Amino acid sequence: MFGGECSFIFVVLLKPMKSTFFAALLFWSVALFSCQSKTEINMSFANDIHSFSKPNEAYVNHLSWKASVDFDKKIISAVATWMIESNHADSIVLDIKGLNIEKVLINNDQPATYSLGADVAILGRSLFIKITPDTKTVSIYYTTSPDAEALQWLGPQQTAGKKFPFLFTQSEAILARSWVPCQDSPGVKFTYDADVTVPKDLLALMSASNPQAKNETGVYHFEMKQPISSYLFALAVGDIAFKSVSSRTGVYAEPSVIDTAVWEFVDLEKMVAGAEELYGAYPWERYDLIVLPPSFPFGGMENPRLTFATPTILTGDRSLTSLVAHELAHSWSGNLVTNATWNDFWLNEGFTVYFEHRIMEKLYGADYSEMLASLALQDLKEEIKTMSESGLIEDTKLKLDLINRNPDDGVTEIAYNKGYFFLRFIEEKFGRDKFDSFLKNYFSSHAFTSMNTDGFMKDIKNYYQSQFAITLEDSMFNAWIFTTGLPAECPVPKSNRFDRVDSAISEWSKTSKMDRALTIDWSTHEWLHFLNNLPGLLSSKQMKSLDDESHFTASGNSEILCVWLGLAVKNNYAPAYPKLEQFLIITGRRKFLTPLYTELIKTEAGKLRAKEIYKKARPNYHFVATNTMDKLLAN
Ligand code: BES
Ligand code: ZN
Repeated sequence: MFGGECSFIFVVLLKPMKSTFFAALLFWSVALFSCQSKTEINMSFANDIHSFSKPNEAYVNHLSWKASVDFDKKIISAVATWMIESNHADSIVLDIKGLNIEKVLINNDQPATYSLGADVAILGRSLFIKITPDTKTVSIYYTTSPDAEALQWLGPQQTAGKKFPFLFTQSEAILARSWVPCQDSPGVKFTYDADVTVPKDLLALMSASNPQAKNETGVYHFEMKQPISSYLFALAVGDIAFKSVSSRTGVYAEPSVIDTAVWEFVDLEKMVAGAEELYGAYPWERYDLIVLPPSFPFGGMENPRLTFATPTILTGDRSLTSLVAHELAHSWSGNLVTNATWNDFWLNEGFTVYFEHRIMEKLYGADYSEMLASLALQDLKEEIKTMSESGLIEDTKLKLDLINRNPDDGVTEIAYNKGYFFLRFIEEKFGRDKFDSFLKNYFSSHAFTSMNTDGFMKDIKNYYQSQFAITLEDSMFNAWIFTTGLPAECPVPKSNRFDRVDSAISEWSKTSKMDRALTIDWSTHEWLHFLNNLPGLLSSKQMKSLDDESHFTASGNSEILCVWLGLAVKNNYAPAYPKLEQFLIITGRRKFLTPLYTELIKTEAGKLRAKEIYKKARPNYHFVATNTMDKLLAN
């Protein structure tokens, strides 16, 4: 984001100060100060097809948000005051979706002339506000609509405690505009402060400095001093408790969930420290995590300083904590160096999966992380197959072209795992030390800016050439980034632990019996590999014997349950149906809903059942999930 002169300041300051935490802090403050105190506009923003804003003419750099949360009406009433910079533009353009604009002021007290553009599917509408060279701020007075797409309002019944309502937001990719008028493009970054009023018995949290306990006023103040993109603007309100894990990490959850959650995430500090050893000081001060109610549509969301997480990773055996490593890794890949547009989404997710696996390897060994990589390759291959079969082959390129489409269409295994294997390919081909030194430099030299695919290619080519005299060939980038499918030279993970699972599968295929001694120390990942690789169709007798031996239907592990329930549908295993219905009604995590509904609708009888379940379940799902399931179940 900070172009020209500013990036020069970054590079010059960085060299002598590398690695220590305090040097890094000083560096960020100096860099930020230098950029914000500039008067001339010297910015260059990527062209973003998913935003109406024109940041190259006028852009926002700080938000003061005053908001009040009304659970009865399911609306937020707010004033968003943006500090702006402009290049002699006569208007500034913001994105809005479903917002009711009451009035707009400039420089705090002067009525502004403004207009709204046409309502466009997916994107919403533009808000044009007239400005002059003297305009320092624009203030938008507005209310959200009760069906604002980012917001999910839960009744007490949908929470663990059953006593209080709950609200959470999900802004990525382009839903922030449904609760704050903003330049809703990941290339535009801003700092913020907020004052949020909520019912007195509830606590409010944001992607910012956070309170650790409720107060009597119900008013909470927030500061986010490092610049973030709009998709990282986040709020959660509910009956929420806090417990520390270390001096800079901790967990928030409903009171009845907090102890279970703290136990599960006991390694939080080790993860942050491990990540820092790999790629440099953690740049956001605190790292906390909030466990949300089960309708949260994702596994995790990397809101800065406060990861939002699904309760479906609370397994009681700490076996799904790679999700935390993933969201934590986004503190560098994504939140610090951000995809400039949603066509470059793989820069966020591919880098993050790579970083996640490195954290898991560091903490738990390569035996462990190779299981994750192995599952990733299998999922990736399957997704490429289904995408090719359903006319989506073009979307199997890393660099996407999502013109006239929802950025959500880019959320596939490609960005995550083809992205991951590309980076792993470079690592293996030229050596880990070199790749680590590149990544460390990449995060520090582009900190708090956004990056597109071209920028990444230039950067890595330069680095390998200047540091190691290695020329990275265009053909490599072409094969991975601009070509469909998976290159033949894709790395193949080697997992000894999965080799043992494979033997157990062949044994089972011959005898239909499981040897308890073989499976006694299996983790979630081994069970997933086992279930994913059972032979094609299974008889009811086989399903029953598997269930009797390993109690899959009764499993409290959501990942295992999801794969098992998929097998139950495929193989018509009726004893699992009540559990299937219960799971689909309680859980709103899209990653589980999509494969289960997809499997159900493959038969006429299943389709009927899917629709009946969906009728009951839909009120529990966030817009992100209903938007996908509505389409899936449309005919
Ligand atoms: N940033 C994503 C979630 C996301 C992506 C939300 C695109 C909206 C649009 C988050 O980091 C993520 O990838 N979550 C995964 C977990 C991860 C371990 C793969 C999820 O929710 O399953
Ligand atoms: Zn992610």
